[in-house]
Amino acid sequence: MKEIQIITSAHEMKNFAAECKAQRKTIGFVPTMGALHIGHISLINSSVKNCDVTVVSIFVNPTQFNNPDDLKKYPRTFDTDKAMLETTACDVIFFPSINEMYPDGLITTQLDLQGLDKVMEGEHRPGHFAGVVTIVKSLFEIVNPDVAFFGEKDFQQLAIIKYMTHAFNMPVEIMPCHTVREEDGLAFSSRNIHLTPDERKDAPLIYDTISQCRNKKLTMTVYEVKAWATNRINSSPYLKVEYIEFVNSKTLQPLNNWDECEEQRVCTAVTVSKTRLIDNTVL
Ligand code: PAJ
Repeated sequence: MKEIQIITSAHEMKNFAAECKAQRKTIGFVPTMGALHIGHISLINSSVKNCDVTVVSIFVNPTQFNNPDDLKKYPRTFDTDKAMLETTACDVIFFPSINEMYPDGLITTQLDLQGLDKVMEGEHRPGHFAGVVTIVKSLFEIVNPDVAFFGEKDFQQLAIIKYMTHAFNMPVEIMPCHTVREEDGLAFSSRNIHLTPDERKDAPLIYDTISQCRNKKLTMTVYEVKAWATNRINSSPYLKVEYIEFVNSKTLQPLNNWDECEEQRVCTAVTVSKTRLIDNTVL
């Protein structure tokens, strides 16, 4: 088993990164909020494959939670996370405190995200992306990665991070990674542990339904497919669609017609009793 270095101070993390740069080693970075699962591990393995040194951050970022209950309930499992990371070739865990990341209090960076934050998660979780942009920008400044790995599971987040690095001229390559799923199609998520056995049994209906939209779109209008998919997911007594949108993959703006653009995506948020799950797939 590999000994992983745990760094809690931003200053120490910056020094470590500077040393890597001096030795001309590339840094791969995987930002996470912990409660690690196979989805996170796939990002780490991509980093290990592509970079000389891999840093994983674990930080439950308070400014991206618009619901205080959700923040309180978010699983914090550092010891099992560490044990899981020891089975990978990750080199460093950056595990800062809230004070370390927000020395001046919970202030967020303001950036015009060109409408990317006005739809879907942005509309339903006000302030969420300002929090994500703030923390990822700070983490990039501290870790100074050459490449950062993000999951397509959070498709809107990925688009916003790509835009942010462009807008702030940050020298970081953003590498998208495929969504890792359970055998029945449910996307791995740190929130899945909150599902009861009955809820867990119905949750695969989410991915099954959005996958079928690809076929439905051949014979139905955008509005018809939306109604069909919403009804199908809502047919479970445990599932309730918060939104389901068919969007332009680049601008994330909702489509009215299938012929509006080439690259399209279906994105959804579904509450499973009190647990909120998101998923998306290519159309
Ligand atoms: P978290 O939800 O912990 O996710 C960390 C990374 O893992 C994200 O890039 C996410 O897209 C990816 N991920 C989650 N589930 C996945 C799956 N099933 N398959 C592949 N990748 C998956 O996203 C965040 O944390 C935070 O917003 C963060 C970027 C760390 C900023 O606080």
